Amino acid sequence: MQKLSIKGKKELSGTIFISGSKNATLPILAASILADEVKLSKIPLVKDIFTMIELLRFIGIKINIDNNSKVIKLKNKKNIKTLAPYKLVKTMRAGVLVLGPLLTKYKKAKVSLPGGCAIGTRPVDLHLFALKRLGAKIKIKDGYIIAEAKKGLKGTKINFPSISVGATENALLAAIEAEGKTVLSNCAIEPEIFDLIKFLKKLGSKIQISGRKISIIGNKIKINKKISHEVIFDRIEAGTYLVAGALLGKKIILKNINPKILNCEINILKKMGVKITKSKSAITVFKSKNLKKINILTKPYPGFPTDLQAQIMVLMTQANGKSQIKENIFENRFMHVPELKRMGAKVNIKNQTASIFGPTNLTGAEVMATDLRASVSLVLAGLIAEDKTIINRIYHLDRGYEKLESKLKKCKAKIKRF
Ligand code: UD1
Repeated sequence: MQKLSIKGKKELSGTIFISGSKNATLPILAASILADEVKLSKIPLVKDIFTMIELLRFIGIKINIDNNSKVIKLKNKKNIKTLAPYKLVKTMRAGVLVLGPLLTKYKKAKVSLPGGCAIGTRPVDLHLFALKRLGAKIKIKDGYIIAEAKKGLKGTKINFPSISVGATENALLAAIEAEGKTVLSNCAIEPEIFDLIKFLKKLGSKIQISGRKISIIGNKIKINKKISHEVIFDRIEAGTYLVAGALLGKKIILKNINPKILNCEINILKKMGVKITKSKSAITVFKSKNLKKINILTKPYPGFPTDLQAQIMVLMTQANGKSQIKENIFENRFMHVPELKRMGAKVNIKNQTASIFGPTNLTGAEVMATDLRASVSLVLAGLIAEDKTIINRIYHLDRGYEKLESKLKKCKAKIKRF
């Protein structure tokens, strides 16, 4: 099993080109079921994307990937299977996003329930609630969601009882070919959802957004229409390297981004005393010797993302005084804490709140990655720790970070995979 070895305390300087967003690419790939021919560019070549591609190939979509240009071409075939098997959904929950497009286009779908995951129970009840409201008959049998809408889905009003990114995406995708108008309210409005909507509009869909309300006029997607789309930048990858720059940056420049999308993260780092300058499509970040404590809550966008909670915790270990993080999105997302403590971090957890006492001098240790974002927090901790850190189970990192070591190495980090 591969591991990462990091020699800490090396100052970082250089330019990092931010990849396309994994969390935008996944629903757009699922949406490609609705299209005839699609060309997607700036695809991050990470494990989760390859899992989704495997699933789409299983369903019967022809896919070509050009690893150099990061372009994927998809072409729908005639013989489609409306099935997403357990082996392809269990490792990546976003597989459940094929449910909406299959159901709206082919009027039936059988999709494995994704099951629990390390950061929480992560049910799909909100996805199913929305599809039922659109008229789908749904039963759960042998671990599968079996959905049917013999006469097609019908547009309606759906008010989500709580905000979910995946449920908003699945409902939106299902409403595309539903009859009449669908109005979704209390939706997630993450930038990745806007990117999905941009893609769906290119297919000819009529969609409007106002606050947390999304209205869709259902219509049959025209066949024989070729469309191209470049995926939005990965704001979580950008946020991760922003933290790396705040910890160790002599000068780190992040390129290929839109700083406006990172407003919340930039403001929080600035409040902590990090020096950041912005241009139209780049951010420059410098480390600060005098970091201030801060309290944050994770929230749906435009709030502070749960996917950056573990990373900012590492920065808090270097701030003066007691910082706090309240994790509002997932119930079990502090699994990085015991590992960070083994490196010397002083953190207490009570209920859903972590208190971080700083500044602490971290020291290298052998640690274990537990999920995608927790793993990258250990990389950040390894970069600032004294001596050597070894990170086990880095397959979690490969699910979502494209060329992590080479990007960091170009900024002079001492990191290698073995
Ligand atoms: C997406 C992101 C993930 C991010 C999360 C929250 C992708 C591929 N993944 O995951 O990186 O951490 O948003 O920003 O885009 N919930 C229910 N019932 C449901 C669905 C969700 O109770 O049917 C709960 C979840 O357990 C969680 C909360 O709602 O507590 C938010 O989850 P959700 O926004 O759905 O996350 P994902 O779409 O799975």
